[in-house]
Amino acid sequence: MSESPKASDASSSAAPEEPVVGILGAGRAGTAFARTLLRAGVAVDIASTRPPRALQHHLKIYAPGAQPVHAEDIAARARNSSGIIILAVPQEELDELDPDWVANTVLVDATNTWQDELLPGWLQAAVDEQLPTSMALAGRFGAARVVKALNHIAHADFDDAARPGADLSGRRALAVAGDDESARGLVMGLLFRMGFDPVSVGSLAAGRIMEPDGPLFNRPLRREDILHYAR
Ligand SMILES: NC(=O)c1ccc[n+]([C@@H]2O[C@H](COP(=O)([O-])OP(=O)(O)OC[C@H]3O[C@@H](n4cnc5c(N)ncnc54)[C@H](OP(=O)(O)O)[C@@H]3O)[C@@H](O)[C@H]2O)c1
Repeated sequence: MSESPKASDASSSAAPEEPVVGILGAGRAGTAFARTLLRAGVAVDIASTRPPRALQHHLKIYAPGAQPVHAEDIAARARNSSGIIILAVPQEELDELDPDWVANTVLVDATNTWQDELLPGWLQAAVDEQLPTSMALAGRFGAARVVKALNHIAHADFDDAARPGADLSGRRALAVAGDDESARGLVMGLLFRMGFDPVSVGSLAAGRIMEPDGPLFNRPLRREDILHYAR
């Protein structure tokens, strides 16, 4: 009788599984993030307002290889993998997202506030008080660990700016802010894998400098530029 292979043999010969990241929003930003993640060997689940079947054609053009899912299932695979969900829907739509969908994940807040948006009341209150919007998001999505990142680079620059083959000095620097140190570290690891030089600016409150009226917004940055403005 032939011996069946041991479990350890199977695991040592198996290729390591690709990590999975979820992205809420399949527009300009969401698909740019997806393309770069896929190029870096990270699998992507992505959702919009449309059912998965209706997203297929759009993704074939803008993020080939990304897996369309229902928004409520965005964390189904990622939760047991990278643990990371990227939020790339307009802020005026945030009340449409059930916080339970992203519970127990690291939620990357890539969103920005634009003056003409009709914001949910909880977010408008934070804007009126001049608080960083990701602090309000952290309250709203209370069962997720919120990290601010990816909001201060334009989608049109994203593909070219990601340079996974370059050493740190040849990469564009991106800022990361978050109150939870391990969540911040996970996101920094992901940005590094995508081809950027991630720089921690500290807490969510410190992430104010990443917002549209702040000094880091939409500028090609090196590590020292970010450190100059970080607290
Ligand atoms: N554009 C950039 O360069 C850039 C860069 C960094 C950060 N951001 C920020 O990212 C956010 C999105 O910007 P964008 O330019 O990507 O906007 P966009 O092109 O208009 O795309 C928005 C996406 O969000 C989806 N969406 C809206 N409501 C949703 C809901 N309830 N559930 C699931 N998905 C929903 C839309 O779905 P449908 O496709 O079904 O309509 C669409 O796929 C903004 O806060 C923006 O400031 C943008």
